Amino acid sequence: MTFKERLDSIFVSENEIPTEYKFDNLLHQTKYLSNGEMRTWAGAMHTVLSPVCVQSPDGIVPKVIGSYPLCTENEALESLNAAVNAYNNGRGEWPTMSIANRILCMEKFTGKMIEKKKEIVSLIMWEIGKSVADSTKEFDRTVEYMNATLDALKDLDRASSRFTIEQGIIGQVRRAPFGVVLCMGPFNYPLNETFTTLIPAVLMGNTILFKPPKHGTLLFAPLLDAFKDCFPKGVINTIYGRGNTIIPSLMKSGKIDVLTLIGSSRVADSLKKMHPKSNRLRAVLGLDAKNAAIVLADADIDLSVKECVLGSLSFNGQRCTALKILFVHKSIADQFIKKFNEEVSKLKYGMPWESGVALTPLPEPNKPEYLKTCIEDALVNGAKIMNENGGTVSHSFVYPAVLYPVNEKMKVYREEQFGPIVPIVPFDDVNTPINYLIDSDHGQQVSIFGNGSKEMADLIDPLVNQVCRVNVNCQCQRGPDTFPFTGRKDSAEGTLSVTSALRAFSIRTMVATKVTEANKTLVNKIVEDNQSKFLSTKYIL
Ligand code: G3H
Repeated sequence: MTFKERLDSIFVSENEIPTEYKFDNLLHQTKYLSNGEMRTWAGAMHTVLSPVCVQSPDGIVPKVIGSYPLCTENEALESLNAAVNAYNNGRGEWPTMSIANRILCMEKFTGKMIEKKKEIVSLIMWEIGKSVADSTKEFDRTVEYMNATLDALKDLDRASSRFTIEQGIIGQVRRAPFGVVLCMGPFNYPLNETFTTLIPAVLMGNTILFKPPKHGTLLFAPLLDAFKDCFPKGVINTIYGRGNTIIPSLMKSGKIDVLTLIGSSRVADSLKKMHPKSNRLRAVLGLDAKNAAIVLADADIDLSVKECVLGSLSFNGQRCTALKILFVHKSIADQFIKKFNEEVSKLKYGMPWESGVALTPLPEPNKPEYLKTCIEDALVNGAKIMNENGGTVSHSFVYPAVLYPVNEKMKVYREEQFGPIVPIVPFDDVNTPINYLIDSDHGQQVSIFGNGSKEMADLIDPLVNQVCRVNVNCQCQRGPDTFPFTGRKDSAEGTLSVTSALRAFSIRTMVATKVTEANKTLVNKIVEDNQSKFLSTKYIL
């Protein structure tokens, strides 16, 4: 059997799918949530094809798992108006609700979401081909993030439940919402990364327009009723359809106060420019990245290989934090590549429900073709595929290709491949990778591997001013979620983490007055009689 035939054979027929993971009832989602109602869409639909293909009489074909609405800008604008009305210039029920009550709504939502775990995990797996273990991890990590956010918000509220007196002025400072947030998440962490923006945004009192990612849409269907039941009408509205059809009119309306997008810098750039009031628009963005690893001559090769394999190939390299280029010192490059290939050959490939599977089919239909052009371009410009079977494609599955020696003429040198290609660049002088990062449009993270304290310190100091996280002897990653997650240049705007996200979606606002007897009496009266939700010393216990 050729390797290509072996890859073809990872796709099984419908009746060979284990009962536990079967997807027999197609999910045709015709409803969307707008202004507190589940509205039925009777127009055009998008057919959802899973990256998981099946053997059929017509050969190996993508499995159809359902469909979702392709609404028009009319429905998007209706949802926008619902969010604008629910915010009501900051006078709506939600933006004026006490933090304690908003927390109760979110706790209720989290409970309902947990009830849907099995369904959502299965949809993540089928929609984007993520292994069942990683899909489960994504769900659990999201629930943990939500609970941690609730705790952080309680702390924030407690810290704000007091007055400060300075220079004869008495003031109370709290964080208040911005208004309407347009929220769009990515396909690779469709639940987690969407909720790391949506949840803090809504908790801070904003109202939401939420467009699920193109791949990774159906998994939100089980949550729509929970959104409807747990929050006042118009606070969370979903919009479905092609981004380029429905999003421009939302931005051009000037009614979006915050754009939060985990996606490409090109899209973020063009959307921001559509907004007529650039100073009104806030942006919280997680964008492109091309994180590099720098492996010095004295690095522990086994450790570096292990971390670089994880860093470059977890979820087939489809992480914004993935290592997308490796700079390896010439003196150890041969040894490094030999061990790297050995480790890659041990990675189990197959269907996402298989236990221990590491490499799975890719959800973007054009990705295999794109990766093929990257590999061909690298070969034309002098690289070789170093690992056995590297770059072999079967339908939606691409076996990892380790490319070496990579140089600046190749697409993979600068482009974010977001897939299973590992470009390796040899270097003599450590200024080569440093200059690569200086010249890069990206600035998220870097991993450095080595043992000499002086050499490592000499790398850390210039690199902390190029990226936002220098990982020492380990791969790049977002977590722990309490750490700041951000980037420079085209990689991000704003900072996310459990506490930072609450700040990103709110603004400090205060009530202040001169300390006079009359003002003291007035403020005391408001507080004692619970007349204001803002001016209050109530403490969440
Ligand atoms: O795609 C970007 C994710 O935020 C990466 O998260 O580093 O935990 O995989 P991770």
